[in-house]
This record gives sequence, structure tokens and C-alpha cells, in this order.
Amino acid sequence: MKLWGGRFTKPTNQLVDEYTASISFDQKLWRQDIVGSSAHVAMLGKCGILSMDEVRQIIAGLKKVKEKIERNEVQFLVAHEDIHMNIEKMLIEEIGPVGGKLHTGRSRNDQVALDMHLYLREKLMELIQLTLYLQKALLDQAEQHLDTVMPGYTHLQRAQPVLLGFHLVAYASMLQRDIERMQDSFKRVNVLPLGAGALAGTTFPIDREFVASMLQFDSIYINSMDAVSDRDFIVEFLSHASLLMTHLSRMCEELVIWSSQEFSFIELDDAFCTGSSIMPQKKNPDVAELVRGKTGRVFGNLMGMLTVLKGLPLAYNKDMQEDKEGMFDTVETLHGALALLTPMIESMQVRKENMRKAVTQDFSNATDLADYLVTKDIPFRQAHEIVGHAVLYCIQNKKYLLDLSMEEFKDFSALIEEDVYQALDIDTVVNARNVFGGTAKVQVEKQIEACKQLQKTSQSWIDVHSQKVMVEALVDIQSPVI
Ligand code: ARG
Repeated sequence: MKLWGGRFTKPTNQLVDEYTASISFDQKLWRQDIVGSSAHVAMLGKCGILSMDEVRQIIAGLKKVKEKIERNEVQFLVAHEDIHMNIEKMLIEEIGPVGGKLHTGRSRNDQVALDMHLYLREKLMELIQLTLYLQKALLDQAEQHLDTVMPGYTHLQRAQPVLLGFHLVAYASMLQRDIERMQDSFKRVNVLPLGAGALAGTTFPIDREFVASMLQFDSIYINSMDAVSDRDFIVEFLSHASLLMTHLSRMCEELVIWSSQEFSFIELDDAFCTGSSIMPQKKNPDVAELVRGKTGRVFGNLMGMLTVLKGLPLAYNKDMQEDKEGMFDTVETLHGALALLTPMIESMQVRKENMRKAVTQDFSNATDLADYLVTKDIPFRQAHEIVGHAVLYCIQNKKYLLDLSMEEFKDFSALIEEDVYQALDIDTVVNARNVFGGTAKVQVEKQIEACKQLQKTSQSWIDVHSQKVMVEALVDIQSPVI
């Protein structure tokens, strides 16, 4: 018998059961569902809607259900459609008809929204923490490479020399924005929908503040129709996740390029690479490639969710059940990528000599020759042209700028003096960019320091919030209530 079977004259078609059930994937929410139900029933007791004896029986029953699920003793049934009705059925089996009082003043619409909010806020904490770990790995490597010069690229053509530390801080900075975005979204995730009922609120004199404080929500949806219709917080998460994956994907693309034989800038640790079934010499950067590849499904999940929501009339529609798999998948995909990239970056070996060679045997100090001429009062545009001719001359004569003799330099501009050799020296070139945000060593040191300060702020935010929003931590909050 279905929990909602009263109005029906015959059983549902078997295919309908299978098609509409969400239990195969929403069983992931069982902890959230039990915690939410415990808080709800405690509130019903406090408000005199249920007797304290009934509340005790229901909470004890929910505890038993929880223990049985933990011991793997239960079977979730498609016939009971979703996690909410499966648990309610189990509760009634456990304690009898009084279990049927749990759903007083509640609907699955506000219940499922609550479960999703509880789930996502916890996962958000884990993901921010993992992003912070990856950011730290990047900053640690950056600190090791404050003297490692490499080409900075535009159009994947060598542009100007930079420090590897500088390049890595660029990624650490991107991750900082990801962290802050996720932190900011917490405000909108940590809003209580329970108490909205099916869509219009409830006739029972419930106390939503009480539930909010028990479950550590910072605020309550001010409109019940919005509370049960809102999946913006999921879209927002999927969108932040997409941008974070974009960053990881760009970084992975560079790891793939840098570890190629053509570049040979880095060597990824054997533990994070795989081989080929046919070519014995191969060592492939599969992890980096897969992170890059899995970015596609994360984008797909965002597009899927947006498309589900567009055109939905208020309030709840069954379409919204489609919010789950994409979100779970994105959480897991991000989790996997962050957890793997951290040790991969930590263990990455850098081939400093190859990076330096790519700078010295090239023209990436050409801008510096133009800047040098500008210091001799030649307008930059003219200096640019002079250096262009010098570079062309070098290419035709198989030389680099630093190979030119004084006479050759003088052919391009009589204003060039002996000090040009010092000005074009690679370390000079890097350290000459000594402006805020530049690649000079002292500037990169400041950038690392700035990132570390931001990291500290984000870490203390995590330390404060994650303690209270973990579902496990909330389970014990219920006990003093009864
Ligand atoms: N399994 C449903 C979901 O995930 C729960 C809410 C069902 N509500 C309803 N009115 N049918 O969306």
C-alpha cells in the first residue's frame, strides 16, 4: 500500500513505479532525511502539536532506522518511490501507527528541499577545504620556484620570461576566487525551507525559528512558494563548480603540455601517471587529461539543471526530482579532481634547466630591448620597429639578441651602449618587472604572502562553519531536545 494510496482505485503500473522512483539515487540523502525529520518532530513536540511521548517514540524509531541503514540491514524499495517515503515506511514498521504522525505539518516538497540544502552545505564545506589544499600545494611549489625562469606565453608563443612561481600564483589566485564564490553561496544554501509545507505554509502552529536554530540555518525562506520551488542554490553551485573545473582544466592542459617530450618542463610523479597497453615506453598524464575531460560533464550538469527549471510553473513539479543526479555527480567529480590534483602538484618535479633554456634560446627579451631604447628617449612605437628589425636580422643570421656584437647593435640604433647586455640578461629582465603584480622575485614573494593571508581567512571561515553544518554533528543536537 502506497503512503498516498487512499485516493486510488488500483495499483500503479509497474513501469510508472520504476519511471517515477528516485530511490536509486536519492538514498544518498538518508542521513539528511533522518536529521531533518528528527528536528521536525522535536519542533512538533515543543509546539504541543504532538505529545512528548509521541515525539520520544518517533525519535527512538528514527534512531533505530538509522542504525539499521548503517548496518546495511534495510532494503530500499522502488515501490516506496523515494528516500522520504522509504524512511517513513520503515519508521511505521518499527514503531507502528504513531510513526504516521511524523509527517504532520510537512510535505515531501519542503522535506526534499531541506535534504538538498543540508546535503549541499556540507559538501560545499568539503569542497572548499579541498580547494584550499590544492591552493596550498600550488603556493608551496611557487615558493620553491622563485628563481626558476620560464617563458610566459601568449598565443602559446613565447612572450616574456616569468618566474614559475609567478605562473603558479596565477592559478592560486583563480582558486581563491573559486573559494570566495563558494563561501558566498553558502548564504543562499544555508536557508531553511522546512515549514513551507506543500507550497502555502501549514495550518499547524509550527515554530520555524526553532527548527532553523536546531539545524544551524542562518535564515528561513520568507515565502513558502519560493522555498519549495527554489533550486537556484543548486544552479549556483553547479555554476561555481563549472568555473572551478574550467580552472582545473586549464591547469591540467598546461601540465599535459609541460610534461610532453617537446616541452619537458616538468616530470609528473609515476604514481600519478599511467602506461600504454601496447607502447612500452609510454608514460601518460591520464589524471590531468581526465580532469580536463570531466569538465564536460560538470558543464552538462549545469545546462541540465538550468533547462529543467526554465519554464517550470510554481511551485513543485516532478521535473525537479531531476536536480539530484547532476548535483551528486558534480560533487563527486570535483571531489575526485581536487583530491588527486593536490598530491600531483606536490610531487611534480620541475626541470629548471629546460625552462631556462626555453627563455635564453629565444627572443622573449625583445620587449626589454624596446624598453631599453625608450629609456634613451626613443618613442616606444619606433623602438618596437627597431627591435623588430633586430629580431628579423637575428633569425636570418641564426642568432639571439644577446649574441649580437656592439657593432651589430649600433646598426639598429646608435643609442645602444654596452649596458644593453646587462639589460637583456634573463634574470635582469624578470626582475625588472618590479611593479605591483609583476613577475620580479620580490613581487612574487608579496603575491604568495597575500594569497597566504587570504587562505588563512578562508580556512578560519571553514573551521567555524564546518563544525556545525556536518550532518553527523547535528544528530546529537536532537538528543537534548527530548
Ligand atoms: N522524490 C521527490 C523529489 O526528489 C520528492 C518530492 C516529491 N513531491 C511530490 N509532490 N511528488 O523531488
